[in-house]
Amino acid sequence: MAPAPSPAYSSVTLDVNGDKHTLTVDHRTTLLDALRERLDLTGTKKGCDQGQCGACTVLLDGHRAVACLQLAVAAEGRAITTVEGLADGERLHPAQQAFLDLDGYQCGYCTPGQICSAVAMIEEHAAGWPSAVTDDIRPEAGPPPLTADEIRERMSGNLCRCGAYVSIVRAVARAAAVRAESTPTTVSTRTERAPA
Ligand code: FES
Ligand code: FES
Repeated sequence: MAPAPSPAYSSVTLDVNGDKHTLTVDHRTTLLDALRERLDLTGTKKGCDQGQCGACTVLLDGHRAVACLQLAVAAEGRAITTVEGLADGERLHPAQQAFLDLDGYQCGYCTPGQICSAVAMIEEHAAGWPSAVTDDIRPEAGPPPLTADEIRERMSGNLCRCGAYVSIVRAVARAAAVRAESTPTTVSTRTERAPA
């Protein structure tokens, strides 16, 4: 007779970078550990493992999420994008290219999280979402200028132990400029928010 299924484990299908992976995981397995330990996607880094450093930032349905605070079983049905999924074949994502060109890193440990965060942050800004340093938060005001202060505030969930912040801000600004050249801003309301 087949053994009774353990109540501590479930089968979960994760959609990562466009590929579906079915795994049996302990319910307590974080998305971060599933990505790194089960799928060998080690681009996503483990820094604090408690939601404070941003090293493990991935995109869930296009929004930023720290994978160390997300259970793998709760990520089923979401489109998960890791740093490995940003490039278009051999062509780096503009944010990756900007970090390379402008030396937006030193040791590089925080860089995958910084880049994933920047990719989603640039979309949040283009959609008109205000930050804590935005002067005019009226929805009709549209996206505020993406100043260095705006970038610092919006990227404040991603820490860099090397202190490469000056170059990181430049790289994010460059990536945002490339995005603005290629994709006009179409959303001018600020009513949507990323899921917690
Ligand atoms: S490892 Fe997830 S926030 Fe630090
Ligand atoms: S580049 Fe070393 S932690 Fe950021």
